Amino acid sequence: MSKKTDEEFLHENLQLYIENGKTLSQIDPEIVNEYGNHSVLKLICMHYWIGFFCPICYKNLKEKYGYNLAYIDTMAGAGVTANREGNNFFCGSCTGAIIRSNNLGKPFDFILAVESDKTRGETLVKRLSSIFSSQLFQVYSDSLENVSDEIVRFVNSQKQKTVSYIVIDPEGFEGLTWKAIFPLLTCKGDAMITWFEDGAWRIKQAAVQDHRTAEGQARMIEELLGPGWRTASNPNELTDLFIQRVRRIPGKEAVGKVKISQNGSPYYMLLFSMAGNESIVKKWENEVSRRIGSVDRDDLSTLLEVESGRQKTLFGSFK
Ligand SMILES: C[S@@+](CC[C@H](N)C(=O)[O-])C[C@H]1O[C@@H](n2cnc3c(N)ncnc32)[C@H](O)[C@@H]1O
Repeated sequence: MSKKTDEEFLHENLQLYIENGKTLSQIDPEIVNEYGNHSVLKLICMHYWIGFFCPICYKNLKEKYGYNLAYIDTMAGAGVTANREGNNFFCGSCTGAIIRSNNLGKPFDFILAVESDKTRGETLVKRLSSIFSSQLFQVYSDSLENVSDEIVRFVNSQKQKTVSYIVIDPEGFEGLTWKAIFPLLTCKGDAMITWFEDGAWRIKQAAVQDHRTAEGQARMIEELLGPGWRTASNPNELTDLFIQRVRRIPGKEAVGKVKISQNGSPYYMLLFSMAGNESIVKKWENEVSRRIGSVDRDDLSTLLEVESGRQKTLFGSFK
């Protein structure tokens, strides 16, 4: 993988996302998540780790000890993302992850997805059924907070032990509570979390103001970060508080952080893995940062247009 130029790497990834997005969008074409140009960089972060995770777990845990490999997408969306105009499609995190692992020849044994929006959840079921009929999957159409304990029980009730790759990808802080994510983070395996640093800072600032909503904001941030947030003097300290809280969970000690710039307001993809995996997590951090850093922010939308245009030329018009 590392031998490819950044340009080849991006081209290959974008084509994979666009081609599968187009196919999957033929089911319920109106039901999509909307992407910002940077959503694709987020997908690359998630799926690049699958490129490390699946082969290692397959060899060291599945083949040697009979473990199941599970993919758990806790805010999975509809399985397809579209641009605002609705004419360019990408596969989503869940569908893309499965395609990636299948392409590696190290498929997940089962897939669990949560999507609180009923319509998106139903469409995700159809899209997954259309391409992964041989794999076991379950979509929970509910808020993560209501089902995370049930998911952990399901994982632990399997005859074989399970190692999971968990994705937690909220829009801002919607649905991101400690109560919702903590049970999942105790599962054996890795977790990737989208973290909006500036959003956290805005909540913190609102929470220390003297106005009506302050109490609600304070409760929310305390629930997610634990004590210590009041004295944070900059956004980065809040991110560190969150990271340190997750790192105290056994099996989540190794941490990587990739910055994704979005109109001057960066967010982060945080990766948590077990102690001992520090060097591979660093490798992910460095390689992904270099790959996605090679795309100039202003060039990204042009690049997406060009790559989508290539698909249109290859497969005919989308409409
Ligand atoms: C950023 S989108 C996810 C996009 C998806 N990961 C992808 O890349 O294709 C967040 C999704 O979480 C869903 N959501 C919001 N609150 C939720 C909650 N409490 N539990 C589960 N899903 C939730 C939203 O409906 C939305 O589809």
